[in-house]
Amino acid sequence: MLFKFSVLLLVASFGSSYSDDGEAYVETVSDDDLRNYVDTSEDARSGRLLFSYRQNPVINIMLQTAAINYYPKRSGDLFDFLRESYKLPGGLQAPYDEYDYIIVGAGSAGSVLASRLSENKNITVLLLEAGRPEMLITDMPAMAPYFQSTDYSWQYYMEYQPNVCTGMLNGRCFWPRGKAVGGTSVINYMIYTRGRPLDWDRIAADGNYGWNYDEVLKYYMKSEKANLDGLENSPFRSRNGEVNVEHVGIRTKLVEAFLESGSILGYPTVDYNSPNELGFGYVQATTDKGHRVSAAKAFLHKQKKRRNLHILPETKVTKVLIDPYTNTAYGVDYVRNRLKRSVRARSEVILSAGPIASPQLLMLSGIGPKEHLKSVGIPVLKDLPVGETLYDHICFPSIIFKLNTTGESFSEVKSLNLKESIAWLRYAKSVLATPGGVEGIGYIKTPVSDDPDPIPDIELISIGGSIAADGGPGGSKAVRKGMRIRDEVFDSAFGEIDNPNTDTWSAFPMLLHPKSVGRIQLKDSNPFSHPLMYGNYLTERKDVATFIAAIRFMQAQVATPPFQRFGATIHKADYPMCRGFVFDSDDYWECALRALTATLHHQIATCRMGPLGDPRAVVDPELRVYGVNRLRVVDSSVIPRTVSAHTHAPAMMIGEKAADLIKQTWNRI
Ligand SMILES: Cc1cc2nc3c(=O)[nH]c(=O)nc-3n(C[C@H](O)[C@H](O)[C@H](O)COP(=O)(O)OP(=O)(O)OC[C@H]3O[C@@H](n4cnc5c(N)ncnc54)[C@H](O)[C@@H]3O)c2cc1C
Ligand SMILES: *[C@@H]1O[C@H](CO)[C@@H](O)[C@H](O)[C@H]1NC(C)=O
Ligand SMILES: *[C@@H]1O[C@H](CO)[C@@H](O)[C@H](O)[C@H]1NC(C)=O
Repeated sequence: MLFKFSVLLLVASFGSSYSDDGEAYVETVSDDDLRNYVDTSEDARSGRLLFSYRQNPVINIMLQTAAINYYPKRSGDLFDFLRESYKLPGGLQAPYDEYDYIIVGAGSAGSVLASRLSENKNITVLLLEAGRPEMLITDMPAMAPYFQSTDYSWQYYMEYQPNVCTGMLNGRCFWPRGKAVGGTSVINYMIYTRGRPLDWDRIAADGNYGWNYDEVLKYYMKSEKANLDGLENSPFRSRNGEVNVEHVGIRTKLVEAFLESGSILGYPTVDYNSPNELGFGYVQATTDKGHRVSAAKAFLHKQKKRRNLHILPETKVTKVLIDPYTNTAYGVDYVRNRLKRSVRARSEVILSAGPIASPQLLMLSGIGPKEHLKSVGIPVLKDLPVGETLYDHICFPSIIFKLNTTGESFSEVKSLNLKESIAWLRYAKSVLATPGGVEGIGYIKTPVSDDPDPIPDIELISIGGSIAADGGPGGSKAVRKGMRIRDEVFDSAFGEIDNPNTDTWSAFPMLLHPKSVGRIQLKDSNPFSHPLMYGNYLTERKDVATFIAAIRFMQAQVATPPFQRFGATIHKADYPMCRGFVFDSDDYWECALRALTATLHHQIATCRMGPLGDPRAVVDPELRVYGVNRLRVVDSSVIPRTVSAHTHAPAMMIGEKAADLIKQTWNRI
């Protein structure tokens, strides 16, 4: 194992790069072939070459996952031997024609749901996933920034919006999503958060029965296996679930300064996942001894042996089959190995394809805004506001402080070597175990908040360094590439600190409750096209004001003794597009924010849950699609309003709760 691993590491250190043309998708390239759904493996193989220019060819071979034209029998890649596999159980050669439940998407929510529903041996479950199984290298938390540029992610881009992401490639914001068995939890930063009790109580108060904090807490705890020093006796943490949650085994001294300065400014060090109070704490991560615990690892690796659970990776669902006379879902169409097939569901079809693909699949199947569907030529089965609401969490990754120490903060060059890798394989104590350098989380309520209740408006994510930590000679630049920051912008703004000898600290302020609302629409009726995604970021002044208040808070933090011990001073980033503004003025920060508008990829609400009569609702509080029988949506797209949390734990919680709702409906335990 160690040998295999060293090979991997060697290869990984080549670094990845991205193509200049963000629009080059494998799917669209071979559309014409795909439309005919014929197996032309020659094309399939030449098609694979098309995406080699997206990144370093070696990394590409290593990490490419399911392109629709991937042909496992003839062209498995060099690294297949390191990948998980999901063979059909009991020596089956082909899936059945019919299952009790069909789940589309093996992500954070879908993996949990498949596991819980297949506990009953009498029922059959089919789980269809477009991506490939995870592999050893996806287990390494410090590698998280890499995966956004590989085929383990859908390379989505937000539609062009003037005045945001102006420093990014082509002025567009990048919206990667996980494409793997395990979904986005295979590429995410592993931060475990649940949201404030009031977030969920408000969702319930809107008429969503069953979703108040006490009710969702039960489901958070059901999947959790907390392994957190100091919280052994907390009544809000469980030790009996599948998902290990732990503190990171290695820390810089900067996280202590982050927590101490928080206390000085009125935010005590707390368990920020307990309901009690606002505050700061060490990051709690979904890792186990420093190895990533994806939803697949927790819920599918062992369960895959069940005879009644069939998992088909590299399988893309193109449509939900719905009887137009009764509006009842009875199966799905899918494409696997370039062949089109369909499969029937006896009880239900459940979409767990995430906040982009679930609304896309609904619309492709005739469920969505009537006029919009007509405009792309799709017959309307049910007029619903699918995709009309979209919230996201954006952050500002570039308020950076220089320190007078050396070797105190994280640097990739120091960490990506054989010694650290062996340390990581054997024990958690390696810098490779840090989830992309994140060390601490803090929830604050800025002076500009107009919320009457103790709900934070900003989350601070403390890094043991900064976005420049992957630079210098030998650095992979994976972080800036993952964010699609243009080289000339990065070099101008951060060139001075872009070397392993300069210690830095930063925290990313994340806007928890944006006032700006986005949406999503189909580009056309082709299931292989990416939908049109509109983030509509920073269109409300309040959102800008909240960010500036957060920056002022961080400056106050750095002025306290814990940071002054490091001689911390603000780095004067020179953005080419912001030269007309005085450094540190509000206008300067607004310009900087619009240059590097980074999302933390928490898109929600595109298949909004709401009570009967709610004009914005797509699913009811039991996650059933309005007006269509036997069809539910179970993933982060149902979350109806912003929550003070990253969305992986909420998505797993939704999977847990949905499993019980479905079991109740069919009276099956
Ligand atoms: C880079 C990044 C970092 C993040 N960091 C964090 C973090 O630290 N903490 C946190 O809590 N959250 C984080 N998130 C967000 C979080 O991971 C997601 O919100 C969460 O995983 C969403 O779960 P889901 O079940 O809704 O969808 P997903 O996990 O995205 O699952 C959807 C699945 O459906 C599959 N699929 C899509 N279309 C089809 C189709 N047509 N046919 C078959 N399968 C299909 C996809 O391939 C995918 O596997 C991050 C996200 C990203 C992108
Ligand atoms: C499975 O089916 C059998 C026979 O119908 C029944 O006796 C048993 O209780 C069922 N088990 C479960 C867990 O539903
Ligand atoms: C950094 O600056 C602080 C405050 O000025 C000082 O106390 C400390 O000794 C300095 N440390 C180093 C390593 O220079």
